[in-house]
Amino acid sequence: MFYYLTNPISSDKILVSMTFLRGVVLMIDLHCHALFGVDDGAQNVEIMQQMLDTAYSDGIRAICFTPHFKHHHFKSEADIFAYNEKIKQSFSVACDYVAEKYADLKLYLGNEIMYHHDIYASITEGKCSKIADTSYALIEFLPTTPFFEISSALFNLLRKGIRPILAHVERYGELADDISRVKELREGGVLIQVNASSITKLKFGKSARFIKRLFKSSLVDLIATDAHDANEYAPIMSSAVSIIEKKYGEKMARRVSLTVPNMILENQKKL
Ligand SMILES: [Fe+2]
Repeated sequence: MFYYLTNPISSDKILVSMTFLRGVVLMIDLHCHALFGVDDGAQNVEIMQQMLDTAYSDGIRAICFTPHFKHHHFKSEADIFAYNEKIKQSFSVACDYVAEKYADLKLYLGNEIMYHHDIYASITEGKCSKIADTSYALIEFLPTTPFFEISSALFNLLRKGIRPILAHVERYGELADDISRVKELREGGVLIQVNASSITKLKFGKSARFIKRLFKSSLVDLIATDAHDANEYAPIMSSAVSIIEKKYGEKMARRVSLTVPNMILENQKKL
């Protein structure tokens, strides 16, 4: 298992062996619904605080909050404005809580954006946000979306300078049918995200087999919690990291839980 002595997103990282240090595993979570009172995530401030406590105890040291942005849910521009104001207020409360309790936990803002026809305009007009003001955006589709729609939508964004991160890839049936489709997306510049809970909870079935094939083919860029509460859908990554380490090695575990998420936060173009 890997440990860092310092903040994982600072430049002075010192990797040490567990032989020399008993500490926490440090990870970065770029998909989390812990902001309270905005979407189907934390429903009140107490739950948000519990989620932050859980994430910190688990070893997560950077979180990007990604409240859902579903364009069709809004009736007007004013609705979108009000939603974003709620997000800002909730984020401010989270920052105050963390500043007092967990000085080394970094918080960022983004959205999990449901793909819609005007997505590029929604992003450029500031209606919804990319990950932490980088060029990376977390995009989701309905699980039944055909591959050709997913690929044309994501490649269209890429042509316009936005780097899509495909949220919870394991949910899309047409991608699970044919892993070469994921390869095609990835080779075109799309990043692939798997939910930590899918790794720990899905033991059998199509999605579980799909996830195994993705890891064996090195097609996963990052894992994230996609946490929605402090119980069943809590922000926990370490169990998934342990499984990945055991099955696919320490390097892979570090890459998907820390290295790639860190490169995204630094807006590195090499990915
Ligand atoms: Fe999500």
